[in-house]
Amino acid sequence: MISIPKGTKDVLPADSYKWQYVEEKAREIARLYNLREIRTPVFEHTELFARGVGETTDVVTKEMYTFFDKGNRSITLKPEGTAGVARSFVENGLYSTPMPLKMYYIIPAFRYERPQAGRLREFHQFGVEIYGSPTPDTDAEVIALAHDFIASLGLRAKLHVNSIGCKTCRKAFNDALKAYLRPRLDEMCPDCRARFDKNPMRILDCKVPECRKVTAGAPVITDYLCDDCRAHFDAVQRYLKIAGIPYDIDTKIVRGLDYYTRTVFEFVSEEIGAQGTVLGGGRYDGLIEAIGGPATPAVGFAAGLERLLLLMEKSGAAIPGEPAPTVYFAGMDAACREKAFALAVDLRKAGIPCEVDHMDRSLKAQFKYADKINARFTAVIGGNELAAGVMNVKDMSDSSQHTVAFDRAAEFFAHGNSCKGE
Ligand code: HAM
Repeated sequence: MISIPKGTKDVLPADSYKWQYVEEKAREIARLYNLREIRTPVFEHTELFARGVGETTDVVTKEMYTFFDKGNRSITLKPEGTAGVARSFVENGLYSTPMPLKMYYIIPAFRYERPQAGRLREFHQFGVEIYGSPTPDTDAEVIALAHDFIASLGLRAKLHVNSIGCKTCRKAFNDALKAYLRPRLDEMCPDCRARFDKNPMRILDCKVPECRKVTAGAPVITDYLCDDCRAHFDAVQRYLKIAGIPYDIDTKIVRGLDYYTRTVFEFVSEEIGAQGTVLGGGRYDGLIEAIGGPATPAVGFAAGLERLLLLMEKSGAAIPGEPAPTVYFAGMDAACREKAFALAVDLRKAGIPCEVDHMDRSLKAQFKYADKINARFTAVIGGNELAAGVMNVKDMSDSSQHTVAFDRAAEFFAHGNSCKGE
């Protein structure tokens, strides 16, 4: 037996409608905000993530699926969607198109992490990126889109926002943070000791209890914002209030990827355990330039689809759309089955989903199967019916019985189907 690789999951036929539902909600919200889909490759040159996501991030140093292809190029399965979109924006000259450029994607992403509930090695993201606008209302619109998407799934998650400023204010903050942490370094985990020189702000994000104790009294970034970053953050909050979106300011949010500037945010649920961040994002005004494009402001987010589905299950949110055929034809003998087959051909031409028996089952077994697949109607054709040109139809929704002529079948089922409002 060959088993599935650790940290990956199959989506089985019985569950795929749940994924389709969440994906459809994502596409619906994208239409509502006038975003267009962008599709980029599942793998990119490793260099893109090293430069884009950041050489010192956990994602780049520990978690990438990197290999050499047969042409000896270093290739990486994308650990997130933003860098690939940025690469495509530069390579295709999208900066010459009307701004803002509003895009979304639904992608698989790959990170070599320790698997646990809500943390996989192959996972899926619904991501949104808006390019070309530096204004705070754009940040608020992206957050509003994220909020509306989560709400459209019948879910609730708490919004945490922060500003991590620009290069200038971050330098002042990092100096203050390092001065505070330096005498306490030996109380901290090895990861944080390594972060101290390379990326001290990430220490604020560490979940190790000893490190949390140390960082509880650390300086906070919002006290170090320059005037422009302060004004931007205030305006983002004003727009969130206009949109009626409640939020908490959480100065510990720094995000795990290096490209962020100014606004960062996460939607967090406490219902699904340690991996409660269902969505994260922020502004990243320096990324396009860092990968060789013209300076272009940008803001976006990505939601983890596995975590959203987990939350839907935990919170009992309705997941409609389990597929079921409208009609199941049960045939008594070979001649009846042939007629059933012919009727199914006609019904499908009329756009009515239906099934016939392919297993040569007894009539009783056919009924059982019809029940299992949740067919709305069971249409039985026996010898007498075949001779009379009719079938006996049972409407499973109210157990009513109907005699329907073969030549009225499409009309009856189209009508019966719409009556139920399906
Ligand atoms: P991220 O916070 O690394 O951001 O990931 C976004 C979301 O993907 C997380 O909030 C989580 O729901 C989900 N996620 C991340 N890693 C895993 C995993 N191993 N297993 C399951 N779900 C996971 C980004 O990826 C940025 N590219 C978001 C962004 C777009 N920022 C600006 N634009």
